[in-house]
Amino acid sequence: MVNYTICKCKQVTYFDVEDALKKFSTFSDVEKNFEEVQKLTNCSTGCGGCHDKILDAISEIMSK
Ligand code: FES
Repeated sequence: MVNYTICKCKQVTYFDVEDALKKFSTFSDVEKNFEEVQKLTNCSTGCGGCHDKILDAISEIMSK
């Protein structure tokens, strides 16, 4: 897996999202996980354009 920047406004990478996801264990609800990841990384608090990409990354990490 290659790391890449998902959220350009806040410089949040795929690995940042993965690390944030590992900090809690509610791996059931993508939207809930998104909120938690957002709290930890500030992702998607700028232009918001990365929202769907973050959701995709979370789904992908959850299904690993
Ligand atoms: S790219 Fe994530 S908030 Fe703008």
